[in-house]
Formats: sequence, C-alpha cells, structure tokens
Amino acid sequence: MKLLSLISSCLFLFLTLISIPLNSAQCIDQPDPTQPSKKLASKCSMVKKQPMKNLHHKVQNDTNMFIIQLNCTIQDPIRCEKVKSSFEEAGRIISSTLILNTPILINAMFHSMESPNILGAAGPFRSIPMKDDDGFERLYPQSLVKQFQLDVHPEFAPVDIVADFNSLVPFWFEGDPPITSIQTGFLELILHELMHGLGFASAWNDYINGDVAVAATPEIIGLTTETTLPDSSAKFVFNGFQERALDKYLFLLPENKSTSSYASELNKFAEFGTTYENVSVFLNQFITSPQYLVAKEIFGYFIIPKDLVFKPSASDKEEDMTFLETSLNPFQPGSSISHVDSLTYTNTSEFLMTFSQEKGRTLNDNIRIGGNYSGGAIGYKLRLLLESLGYATNENPNPYKSFPIEEYALSSSTVVSISYMEILEL
Ligand SMILES: *[C@@H]1O[C@H](CO)[C@@H](O)[C@H](O)[C@H]1NC(C)=O
Ligand SMILES: *[C@@H]1O[C@H](CO)[C@@H](O)[C@H](O)[C@H]1NC(C)=O
Ligand SMILES: *[C@@H]1O[C@H](CO)[C@@H](O)[C@H](O)[C@H]1NC(C)=O
Ligand SMILES: *[C@@H]1O[C@H](CO)[C@@H](O)[C@H](O)[C@H]1NC(C)=O
Ligand SMILES: *[C@@H]1O[C@H](CO)[C@@H](O)[C@H](O)[C@H]1NC(C)=O
Ligand SMILES: *[C@@H]1O[C@H](CO)[C@@H](O)[C@H](O)[C@H]1NC(C)=O
Ligand SMILES: [Zn+2]
Repeated sequence: MKLLSLISSCLFLFLTLISIPLNSAQCIDQPDPTQPSKKLASKCSMVKKQPMKNLHHKVQNDTNMFIIQLNCTIQDPIRCEKVKSSFEEAGRIISSTLILNTPILINAMFHSMESPNILGAAGPFRSIPMKDDDGFERLYPQSLVKQFQLDVHPEFAPVDIVADFNSLVPFWFEGDPPITSIQTGFLELILHELMHGLGFASAWNDYINGDVAVAATPEIIGLTTETTLPDSSAKFVFNGFQERALDKYLFLLPENKSTSSYASELNKFAEFGTTYENVSVFLNQFITSPQYLVAKEIFGYFIIPKDLVFKPSASDKEEDMTFLETSLNPFQPGSSISHVDSLTYTNTSEFLMTFSQEKGRTLNDNIRIGGNYSGGAIGYKLRLLLESLGYATNENPNPYKSFPIEEYALSSSTVVSISYMEILEL
C-alpha cells in the first residue's frame, strides 16, 4: 500500500464462511487488492505438481518472468499502452534481481476509482498456510510457494497477484516529458505494489477494535460447523492466530523478542478446535483473557520508532537489519509495519518500500538521490529480505523453503477469517 496524500480509513468487521472439505488447506483468497479485508477462505486440496507448461500465455521477453493480464477500461489506448509497458518494465526489473523458476501471473486493472485519492494496490491473490522450519505455520503468498517447486502442494489459484490502479491519478510514465510536482511515478508505484504481492506483508494488525487500534494479533483463523451462508450467529471454532511469511524474521527491540514468540503466547488463548457460541462471543472472551494483554503489549512496539526490525536469515549483522515502519502514531493499518521506516530510508537506496511515494520524482530520480545503488530500485536490504522469504538471487541461489502442511482441516468444516479493512490507499 502506498499513500497518496489523503488517507481515507474505513474500518468494518468482515466475516466470510466457506465450506472447506477434509484434507484441504485453509487458503485465504483476497480478490480485491484495494479491499484487503475482503478475505475468502478457499479450499485448496493437495495436488501433484503440474509439469511446466505455458500453453495459454507466452512470455514475451524471456527476461521477464511476470505475465501481465491488463484490463484497462479507460478510453485512451495510448495511456493503456503506457500502463502495460510499465508493468512489463517492472517485471523485467524484478526478474533481473530474483531468479524466478516459475512465471508469476498478474491480473491488473486500470480504471477510474471513486476517489482520486486512491493510487491503487496489489497483493497476493491466494495465501497458503505452510510449515516453517521453526515449527510455526505461516501464510505464504502463492507466487513464492510456486518457486519452491514442491512435488505436492495445495492447489494454486489461476492468478498469483492482483493489482488495481486508479486512472484518475496524474501518473507520470517513463518517456513522458519531465515529471511535474503533481505527478506520481507509475513504475515506482508498480514495483512497490508488486513487492507486497511477492510477500512484503505482515499479518500483525488490530482485527478486533474499531476506529482506534490498541492491540495487535496475526490473522485470526476460525472454523465453523455451519456450511450455510455467511452468518455472524454461526458457531465459531478457533483455529489459531497465524502469521505471514515475513513475520518469521521480525524482532522487537531493544529486547530482541520475536513477534512469533508473541504469536505463541496468543495461541495459548484456547486449544485449536475450541467452539464458541458465535464470533462475538469468541471476541468478547478473547478481550477479557490474559492473552489480550499480550496483544496490547506487542501493539505498544508498533507505535514507537525503530522498535521493530526485519533480520535477514543470512546475516546477524546490525547493519543488515531493516527497521520497519513503527513511527506512525496513531497506528495506520496498511501503512504501519508492512513498510520500511520512512524516517530512516526515504532518500536512501532503500526508498522503495517506504509507505509514501513522493510526487514529482521519477524512479530514476530516487535511485540517484539514494546514491546510485548498483542493484537499482531493489536495495540491498530489500534483496536480503526477499532472499529470506525464499526467493533465489544470484547472490543466494539456494534459498530457504517452507513445506506444505500434511494434516489440514479438523473435519468437514467452514473457515472464518476475521479482519478489519485496511486503509484505502495504496
Ligand atoms: C528483453 O529485455 C531486455 C532488458 O530490458 C532488453 O534489453 C531486450 O532487448 C528485450 N528482448 C526482447 C526480445 O524484447
Ligand atoms: C474488465 O473490467 C470490467 C469492469 O470490471 C469488466 O466488466 C470486464 O468484463 C473486464 N474485461 C475483461 C476482459 O476481463
Ligand atoms: C452470540 O451469542 C450470544 C450468547 O448466546 C448472544 O447473546 C448473541 O446475540 C449472539 N450474537 C449473534 C450475532 O448471534
Ligand atoms: C536475537 O534473537 C535471535 C533469535 O532468538 C537470536 O538468533 C539472535 O542471536 C539474537 N540477537 C541478539 C543480538 O541477541
Ligand atoms: C528527502 O529529501 C527531500 C528533498 O531534499 C527533503 O525535503 C525531505 O525532507 C527528505 N526526507 C527525509 C525523510 O529525509
Ligand atoms: C548519482 O549519480 C549522479 C550522476 O552520475 C550524480 O549526479 C549524483 O550525485 C549521484 N548521487 C549520489 C547521491 O551520489
Ligand atoms: Zn505499500
């Protein structure tokens, strides 16, 4: 998500119930990147690896491992063409840093949104629960799971990343006349958003309280025995608080505690499979439990500058850590945590993943201001982060892999994913 100028925040409790059969992973699909709280639990049965084939989509430039399906609904073919070229260029830039063995399919929209203040957004379409080497189960973006080349894996959705950009924004495209102070560089925005789609996203957020965040948990996963329509009166079966892939590497300073240790504490709230009368009974019990104090304690770190770091798997050195965005107070869902600290990294070679993109600057301007880093838009720390998640690079050709979970759903059941809407921005 990338901020334009105005933040329009819109919070609501979102519940989905979908039937999940035995032996299926509880994947979570987020079909609309501008509404990340819209989460659909989806069945993803274990399937055998398909032999590599790309009958439907031909990779046009073999240096670009991203396949773009663009739906450009504006009546301006020249601008649509610039949008398409920008996606292709972003794909080439990422493909020159990451060694991708499997093409990544992006479904992109470029259209006029209701508000001119929304730039757009992108994210993984499907998140897949995987087992990490520390014993934790975490949600992995499909783009990354595909790169693991597992013989058996949860079924993939037909698309890896969904992207949605607002044609009302005065974007600047590569090759246009010099950028003006009101224009936003489109290529930089796409690169930023694709990083979220590739897995630069934390699960930690306040999914419980309304307007003002005061506590944080990972994704709340639940099951219910009802198989009918979404229903807030249905029985709720608690199935754990689940982090995302990025969260494996997050540490709280100065104590150097992992966020995962907090997830463990939170998961002592109840045994997986504990049934509640309905979701609000669950939430009320959680709020009055000792674990809620844990959720409040960790939240405290998320609003103090430089209290949260990403430690890359390959290095213990302090200079290789990345401070994540915890300078925003009040906490801004969508901007806090899932970005690098803007006070530290704006105007440096790590500019790409700050939460706001300065207008009037092209991607090349920012690379130059950042010191002409040889890796270009993808800074050194960002590369270490992507390698830690499991993406191969020339420097680290054999990265870490997580594994699919063998025993899935408790029984024939339904999954509930509770979430608050993130800030509608980018
Ligand atoms: C593929 O992309 C590279 C890097 O941008 C470019 O140099 C090359 O000409 C492209 N090849 C084709 C066939 O378009
Ligand atoms: C493009 O998006 C519009 C608006 O959502 C939709 O009606 C149309 O079917 C889409 N076209 C394609 C080719 O997907
Ligand atoms: C949830 O259960 C409680 C306790 O039985 C009840 O008071 C409340 O009305 C229920 N909520 C819904 C939405 O059914
Ligand atoms: C921080 O904790 C991690 C994991 O518990 C450990 O590997 C690392 O050595 C610790 N670092 C410092 C500086 O204490
Ligand atoms: C980045 O550079 C611009 C222009 O020099 C300056 O106005 C701004 O304060 C800088 N931002 C930070 C966070 O250093
Ligand atoms: C990057 O290179 C350009 C042109 O070579 C130079 O003008 C600029 O000062 C360099 N940036 C930094 C921060 O060194
Ligand atoms: Zn962002």
